[in-house]
Amino acid sequence: FPPSARVDGEDLLIGGCSLRAIAERFGTPAFVVDEGSLRERAREYRTAMTSRYPRAAVCFAVKSFPSVSMIRVLVSEGLGCDVVGAGELRMALAAGADPATVVMHGNAKSNADIAAALDAGIGYIVVDGFDDIDRIERLAGPGAAVPVLLRVSPGIDAHTHQAMATGGSASKFGVSVDQAPAAISRIRAGGVADLRGLHAHIGSQITSLAQFEAEVAALAALGERFDVYNLGGGLGVRYEKADTTPTIAEYAQALVDAVRRHLGGGVEVIVEPGRSLVAPMAVTVYRVVTVKRNARTHVAVDGGMGDNLEHSLYGQCFSPAVIGRWDGPAQLADLVGRHCESGDVITPDVPLADPRIGDLIAVPVTGAYCFTMGNNYNAALRPPVIYCADGAARLGVRRETLDDLLAREMPVNGA
Ligand code: LLP
Repeated sequence: FPPSARVDGEDLLIGGCSLRAIAERFGTPAFVVDEGSLRERAREYRTAMTSRYPRAAVCFAVKSFPSVSMIRVLVSEGLGCDVVGAGELRMALAAGADPATVVMHGNAKSNADIAAALDAGIGYIVVDGFDDIDRIERLAGPGAAVPVLLRVSPGIDAHTHQAMATGGSASKFGVSVDQAPAAISRIRAGGVADLRGLHAHIGSQITSLAQFEAEVAALAALGERFDVYNLGGGLGVRYEKADTTPTIAEYAQALVDAVRRHLGGGVEVIVEPGRSLVAPMAVTVYRVVTVKRNARTHVAVDGGMGDNLEHSLYGQCFSPAVIGRWDGPAQLADLVGRHCESGDVITPDVPLADPRIGDLIAVPVTGAYCFTMGNNYNAALRPPVIYCADGAARLGVRRETLDDLLAREMPVNGA
C-alpha cells in the first residue's frame, strides 16, 4: 500500500482519507492516489539524480498516467514530461508543463504529431527513424534548427515480459546500432534538425541494474560523444511481497556510475520514469459483487479488465486486501472482474480473507498503466481518479456516465 496508508479499525486511510468514505462518495471502482507520497516520490527521484549528477533531468512518462491532475502534480515538483504524440502533448500543456521540458516520442509519429511538437516549441523531438527526419524537414523548413535526439535500439534483450522489452535488435523502436551512423549523417545532411544527443529505452519493469549499465555502454560504443543522453525509463516496482527491485537511489547511482565510466562527466542525462514513479502511489478500490465456490473460488468485483489489463496482457499479479478483514483467515481465490471472458482476472490464486458481497477490496500498486489502458469493454464506465492528501479527497477525473458512452454515437439507419 502507498506510504501514507494506515489501518483505522475496519477502515484504511490513504492521505488521511477513509477508503470506505471514498467508496460511498465516489462509488467503485475508483483509482485512489496518495498525493502527498506521490509528491515525495517525485522529489526523491529528482534528488536521487541531481544530488549525484547535477546535469540531470527527470521527465514523467505521461503514458503511465495520462491525466492532467497527475501531470500537474509532477510538473509542480519540477519534472518535465515525456509524451507520445499530439494527444499526450496536449495533456502536458493543459497541465502547465513548460514546453522546453517536454520530449516527444513515437515510433509512428504522424504529421499532426510533429506539427504539434513544432508549434509548441518542445525541448526535443526524438527521431525514431528515417521517415521522422523527412517529416521534420518538410514541416519545419530550412534553417529551423529543431532540437532532436536519435532513438537507438541498443540490442539489449531486457529481462522482462516480451511485450515490454523495447531495446532488442528486432525492436520496432528507434534505429539499430548498425543503422545509427547513417541516421546521424542523414540528420546532419538535412540541415533542419539539430542533433543534440541520443535516446534509448530498453523496456519496462526491469529489476536488474546491469541492464541499464549495458544500455549506457551500448550508446557509448557508438563512438561519438553527444551533449545529451536520454536513458528512458524502465525501473521495476514491487507488485507482490516476494518481488525485489532496486531503490530509486540505487538506480540513480548505477546510471550515474555508468555515465561517468562510459561517457565522461559533462553530458546532460535525462531519465523518463513512469511505473517506478506512480505505480506504488495509487490503489484501485472495488466492491465485491459475488463469491462463487466451485472447482475454484471466484471473487468477482465491479471492475476488472476495463480498468486493469496487467494480468491479461502481461501476467502481472497483485496483492489485494479485503478492507477491514485484516487478521481473518485467508483462503486462496481468483480475484476476477465483471467482464465476459475468462481472461478477465485481476490476480489468480491469491489469499483473500473471507470476502463477502459488499466488501471493499483494495488492489495496491495500480498507479501505472491501469488508468491508462482503461476501456469500455462491456460498456463499462471508466472509473474516477481521486487525489487524497491531508485528509481531503479531491476528484481529479470523474467517472464516465452512460451519457458519455452515447456521446460519440452518430446513429445511422434511423436509430
Ligand atoms: N520512455 C519510453 C520511451 C517508453 O516507451 C516508456 C514506456 C517509458 C519511458 C516509461 O517506462 P516505465 O518507467 O514506465 O517502465 N503498457 C505496459 C507498459 C509499457 C511501457 C511502455 N513504455 C504496462 O501496462 O505494463
